[in-house]
Amino acid sequence: MKPLSRKATCNTHGQDSSYFLGWQKYENNPFDEVRNPNGIIQMGLAENQLSFDILESWLDMNPDAAGFKRDGNSIFRELALFQDYHGLPACKKALVEFMAEIRGNKVTFDPSRLVLTAGSTSANETLMFCLAEAGEAFLLPTPYYPGFDRDLKWRTGVEIVPIHCTSSNGFRITASALEEAYQGARKRNLRVKGVLVTNPSNPLGTTLSLSELNLLLDFITAKDIHLISDEIYSGTVFSSPGFVSVMEVLNGYENTEVWNRVHIVYSLSKDLGLPGFRIGAIYSNDEMVVAAATKMSSFGLVSSQTQYLLSALLSDKNFTKKYLFENQERLKQRHKMLVMGLQKARISCLKSNAGLFCWVDMRPLLHSNTFESEMELWKKIVYDVRLNISPGSSCHCTEPGWFRVCFANMSEATLNLAMQRLKKFVVDSTTNNSNNRSLDHYYSAKNSKKKSLIPKWSLIPKWVFRLSSRDRDRESSDER
Ligand SMILES: Cc1ncc(COP(=O)(O)O)c(C=O)c1O
Repeated sequence: MKPLSRKATCNTHGQDSSYFLGWQKYENNPFDEVRNPNGIIQMGLAENQLSFDILESWLDMNPDAAGFKRDGNSIFRELALFQDYHGLPACKKALVEFMAEIRGNKVTFDPSRLVLTAGSTSANETLMFCLAEAGEAFLLPTPYYPGFDRDLKWRTGVEIVPIHCTSSNGFRITASALEEAYQGARKRNLRVKGVLVTNPSNPLGTTLSLSELNLLLDFITAKDIHLISDEIYSGTVFSSPGFVSVMEVLNGYENTEVWNRVHIVYSLSKDLGLPGFRIGAIYSNDEMVVAAATKMSSFGLVSSQTQYLLSALLSDKNFTKKYLFENQERLKQRHKMLVMGLQKARISCLKSNAGLFCWVDMRPLLHSNTFESEMELWKKIVYDVRLNISPGSSCHCTEPGWFRVCFANMSEATLNLAMQRLKKFVVDSTTNNSNNRSLDHYYSAKNSKKKSLIPKWSLIPKWVFRLSSRDRDRESSDER
């Protein structure tokens, strides 16, 4: 008899993806300015640590909020006993108002259509349970957040079918890519239940254009399917073009069937930098989805003291205004620092306007245009340069050589050090290594518009995601 269930032992969780393996490498040898200055710098974690001081000064000025108190009197017992899965009304009201503020108050949200969840992770999985059966499919544009393999597929049995987007148009979603994905799913006998997008995108750091949003709404209308827009990074948009939420575009669809088939996922993990607090939400116009998701939210509620704290924080409009503005300014500065640091190393990245990361083009540093070569480069960057960045293959990118590099989870000094290490690596590898194509060669080939060979995702061997035994040996000798 097998001791554990198939679900517990299957590997669709994605734990062995290089995205998560990179975190392990970092944890074995974490950089610390004083205690471990030669350690690995974590650039594979989309955390926002830039505005903690603003949150901390609000907490100092509002001690009741975190101290289980209202008007100076303890509400400890009230909070300790509260267990209604509909959530604290004050928290839901404050959260929908915050979501509207991020959208320039061009849309309003009804708190009765909001379901609180333990982060976006729980929100996305709950929506899968509500909208699809095991074996049915959702279409996702590539590259996508590696955690989706776990969040959408693992426990629900729902399949992800990629919508292949490429660098030829800045990884934009096109009608032909949508149709190709849909037909691809049909060929595999998969019933398509919807499309899921992240807006702004993780890992691209770009916002969806109005024409992409219209395209998506036309597509789900034609195919009679759902659209989930994960807008977890909506408050991180730091430069133009601004953020347009699908809810804004949906205003033109009131009284149509599509109105009920668009759902938003949100969380405070990125915009407020609070992933540890586990505050997420589903917003849907469909009463049945709201009712089902509310029942399911029993498995991932937000604790009542967190809801209490958040309702006080988010209903302070002076705070939210100041925070959103200042946080976006800081993200903009950091983004600029990273882009300029990369430029000094003659590395470019996709033009972006949001998020906590850049989508970096390291194709010039590949030996060959393959995912094996991407893995080889990734290992060099992790082991030799000692930076943990996320390879595009872990985000299901169809073109080898792209990497997601995070910039908001470290100090300025650490980011500068990371850029110095990278620059040295690029200089050394392009001058010393005869196997490496030089950057000049790359750029001249690029300018002469040589067609690049884009390997099909389905042809990428499994080993690309795992460490070979040789690497494991190397890793254990590296461990402190
Ligand atoms: C697009 C996207 N969705 C969901 C999540 C999960 O967020 P949470 O911490 O709110 O569960 C992340 C985290 O990185 C993300 O990037």
